[in-house]
Amino acid sequence: MNIALIILAAGKGTRMKSDLPKVLHPIAGAPMLVHAMRAGATLEPDRTVIVAGHGAEAVSAAALDHDPDATIVLQTTQEGTAHAVKQAATALEGHEGDSIVLYGDTPFIQPETLERMVEARQNHDVVVLGFTAADPGRYGRLVMQGDMLERIVEFKDADEATRAIDFCNSGVIAAKTEVLFDLIEAVGNDNASGEYYLTDIIGIARDRGLSATAVACDEAETLGVNSRAELAQAEALFQARARNEAVENGVIFYAPDSVYFAYDTMIGPGTLVEQNVVFAPGVTIENDSHIRAFSHLEGCHVARGAVVGPYARLRPGAELAEKVKVGNFVEIKNAVLDEGAKINHLSYIGDAHVGADTNVGAGTVTCNYDGVMKHHTEIGARVFIGSDTMLVAPVTVGDDAMTGSGSVITQDVPAGALALGRARQINKVGMARKLFEILKFKKQKRDREA
Ligand code: UD1
Ligand code: MG
Repeated sequence: MNIALIILAAGKGTRMKSDLPKVLHPIAGAPMLVHAMRAGATLEPDRTVIVAGHGAEAVSAAALDHDPDATIVLQTTQEGTAHAVKQAATALEGHEGDSIVLYGDTPFIQPETLERMVEARQNHDVVVLGFTAADPGRYGRLVMQGDMLERIVEFKDADEATRAIDFCNSGVIAAKTEVLFDLIEAVGNDNASGEYYLTDIIGIARDRGLSATAVACDEAETLGVNSRAELAQAEALFQARARNEAVENGVIFYAPDSVYFAYDTMIGPGTLVEQNVVFAPGVTIENDSHIRAFSHLEGCHVARGAVVGPYARLRPGAELAEKVKVGNFVEIKNAVLDEGAKINHLSYIGDAHVGADTNVGAGTVTCNYDGVMKHHTEIGARVFIGSDTMLVAPVTVGDDAMTGSGSVITQDVPAGALALGRARQINKVGMARKLFEILKFKKQKRDREA
């Protein structure tokens, strides 16, 4: 069945006390809106429509950055959730299939929950996602009769008896696209808020003899973010979930609570992640690797059996093949390290390729930036780069070559060659002793004068 997603993201989010539109506040390295889009994307929608309003330009940019095929529609005045959905009508004209309404500030709806809603749609015209609230507060109340949903009453408009109901509206609604927009046409704004409530479509549907039901989910899934405190809670919830999932998938941790995940972190079973590791977005780690303590990884791929850290930094474009070793205080950026390459201490490798079984000595730097442009360093297989070698890019070091410690390499090194690029050492016999005497004499003189 064709599915269209309509994601409401026009609200201001006054309580965030921020210039950033609410839905762009990040959780685990991605805007809340992107979390909602990803949840919806698991249904493989044929259209995704984002309703933007406050900060529309930024919201639109973030949405399109994540999914260039998304359609952005504008809600210039925020007149309620039905009014917001209505802005998607033109974009979904003639859509044959279902529409599912999600909120951009409700990032944790699970794919399985959406699946259950799609299933429930087989027997009902409209399906709402509900949850039993520990504290129903200001949520809309779901008035059920058996498994039939009769209507949704907003808190402000509810009488005492209705307020006593603890089965609440999450905001997620599914219906045939045509039916949804038909029902919305009939929604008025004669209520306590003077808004067009999307929730009114249930009563209207029932009056028309259509059927409606509610699918229930865990309250944690429907967590909406309205304040900084709720954003922090959402982050904590995400992290807890990500850790549990990783443990279930066979990842090994010494101190799971100290590991920070991004929304898209992928770690294979058998991999050990030590304490205080940060995964920024775009990290994939294969099976049986070892990420040692205090490492920071972003936009990189680590193959099976590689060892990273402690205190390593992998930046975007770092590609580590099997059994690569990257040790302490090593930074890798936009560089491919072939199988068995070792860079164990205090080095910067950027815009480079390092061949198989090559050993890069301590303190090596690929000098990739000339102040204006970035340049590539090519290092062959089985090379030995001596400690403190400066590789001034663009430069190539051939297979089986060596560089002497402390070399500044500005010319290509042929395969099998030893390159030395440093001043020749001279020893001046007895000179140090003489120097010490002169210096000590000077110091005594200064101390006397003081
Ligand atoms: C809404 C529901 C309520 C439900 C609650 C769950 C209605 C009338 N009420 O109430 O039943 O329990 O969510 O959190 O639907 N938005 C727009 N344009 C608008 C208005 C809202 O894009 O004109 C967006 C907001 O940015 C937000 C979402 O829709 O993402 C929900 O709006 P909000 O004002 O938070 O609705 P609630 O009053 O919380
Ligand atoms: Mg709300």
